Amino acid sequence: MKSNVTRRDFVAGTAAGLLLAGHPGLAAEGGRLRVAIVGTGIRGVSFWGEFLNREYADVVEFVALCDTNPGRLAYSRRSIGVNCPTFTDVDEMLDTVGIDTLVVTTTDSTHHTLIVKGLERHLDVITEKPMTTDERQCQAVLDAARESRGRLLVGLNYRYGKIFARLKERLAAREIGKLTSIDFNWYLNVHHGASYFRRWHGIREYGGTLLVHKSAHHFDLLNWWIGADPVEVHAYGSLEHYGANNAFRGKRCMDCEHAADCAYFWDLRGNQRMMDLYHSHEAHDGYIRDACLWREAIDVYDKMAVQIRYANGVQVSYSLTTYSPYEGFRLGFNGTDGRMETWEGVPSLMAVQHDQATLHDKEMDQHGNRHAELEYHEIVTQRNFAPFERERLPYVRAGHWGGDRLMADYLFRGRSDRPDLDQQAGLRDGALSVLVGIAARRSIDEGRPVRIADLTNLELT
Ligand SMILES: NC(=O)c1ccc[n+]([C@@H]2O[C@H](COP(=O)([O-])OP(=O)(O)OC[C@H]3O[C@@H](n4cnc5c(N)ncnc54)[C@H](O)[C@@H]3O)[C@@H](O)[C@H]2O)c1
Repeated sequence: MKSNVTRRDFVAGTAAGLLLAGHPGLAAEGGRLRVAIVGTGIRGVSFWGEFLNREYADVVEFVALCDTNPGRLAYSRRSIGVNCPTFTDVDEMLDTVGIDTLVVTTTDSTHHTLIVKGLERHLDVITEKPMTTDERQCQAVLDAARESRGRLLVGLNYRYGKIFARLKERLAAREIGKLTSIDFNWYLNVHHGASYFRRWHGIREYGGTLLVHKSAHHFDLLNWWIGADPVEVHAYGSLEHYGANNAFRGKRCMDCEHAADCAYFWDLRGNQRMMDLYHSHEAHDGYIRDACLWREAIDVYDKMAVQIRYANGVQVSYSLTTYSPYEGFRLGFNGTDGRMETWEGVPSLMAVQHDQATLHDKEMDQHGNRHAELEYHEIVTQRNFAPFERERLPYVRAGHWGGDRLMADYLFRGRSDRPDLDQQAGLRDGALSVLVGIAARRSIDEGRPVRIADLTNLELT
C-alpha cells in the first residue's frame, strides 16, 4: 500500500500550510507550549535547551528532560537552567508528564523509536535531522504519522539559512530560465570533518554514514530548491583516509602515546564544556568523545560522490569530502538561460582568513557573528551571451547561517518573514532527505543505481 502523504496534503496539513492559514506555529493557545527534550547532548542542551530557555521562555516551558545517561542528564538540567523532572526512561516520561511537543535530539539511529512513541501518544514531535537512518525506520515513521493526530516537524535548519533562502528565492524567479542541473560540492575541514570520525558518527550503525547524518541537510536543500521528488540515485564512496588507513592508532586522544606525532590530536581537556558534557559521565555508558579517528571499527565513507535524477528532469552532481584543508562549499545552478553560482569558505577567494580549527564553533554559536561587517556571501549570475552580475549578501555564520533562530521563530512564535518559501520541513521532507542518502549508501554497497520508490511506500510525485 502506498503512503497517502502527498506533497499537496503535506503542505496543506502541516505547519507550512497552517502558517499560511494564519496558524500560530506550535505555540499553545493562551499559555506556554509544554516542551520535553529527549537526548541532552550538545545539540539538545545548547540549542533546544539553553537557547530556547533564554530567548523563548515567554512561549516555551520545559516540562521534562530525558537521556539514557543520568550524569549528562543532571548536568543538562543545570546548564539549561530549568527545574523540571528528569527521566532515563522515555516511556515513563511520556506516561507521567503532560507534554505538548516532544523534541527528539538523540543519536540518529534512535530517532524513529522516539518519534513513533511521541506520535502514538498524539503529541507534536520535532525531530532533529536525520529523521531516520534506514528505510525500515523511515517506513515506521510514515506509518505512525498516518495514524497520529500529532504533527512531525524536522529540524532541517539549513533551509532557513540566509544564503540558502536567497538562492531559493532567486531560483523561483527563473533568472536562469528552467533549472536543468546542479553542481554541489561540500568540504568538511580536517577539524570538523575529523570530529565525525572521533564520535559515534564514524560507525554506520549509529549515524547511517555521513550520506545520511550530514548529507541529509544537503539533500533536503536540493529537494527544496528543485521543487520535485528525487527518483534515482547512483553513488560512489570509500573510506581511504580515516579508520584503518594509518600506521598507528590508540584508543583515545587524551592519553595517547602517539599524541605528539598525530596531526589530528585533539585535546578534550582544553574544552571545559566537552569535559562537563561527556568526559565526566563516561562511566555511565562508556561513550568516549575523543575516540581515535584511526580506530579500525570506523566503517563509514570519508569521500562520497552522488548523482541524483529528479522527477522534473533536473540532474544533480553532489560530493562530500571530509578531510579538506578548509571548510566550505561550491554550488552552481545550470539553467536553460544561464548559470547562478555561489561558494563559501574558499580561502583564496576571501579577504578575511579564518582559523580553520574554530570555524565549527562559530557556526554553532547562537550569540551572533563578531565579524559580520568583514564578510559577505556572493551570488554570481550570468545569463547566456551576457556579462555576469554579482549580488553580495551580509555573511551570517552564527547558528547555521542564522537558520537556527529563524526556525525557532517559526516553530514557537509562528513567525516567518518569508512564508512563501516553505521553509519548515515536515514528515515528507524529512523522509525524502534521508531516502536520498539511504539510496546512495545502498548504491555504493551494491554497485548499482537505486530508485527512491523502491525504499518505502511514500507516494512520489
Ligand atoms: N540541525 C543541526 O544543525 C544539528 C546540529 C548538531 C546535531 N544535530 C543532530 O542532533 C542530534 C544529537 O546530536 P549531538 O551532537 O547532540 O549528539 P550527542 O551524542 O552529543 O547527544 C545525543 C544524546 O542522546 C542520548 N541518547 C542516545 N540514545 C538515547 C535514547 N534512546 N533515549 C534517550 N537518550 C538517548 C545520549 O546519551 C546523548 O546524550 C543528532 O541527531 C544530530 O544529527 C543537528
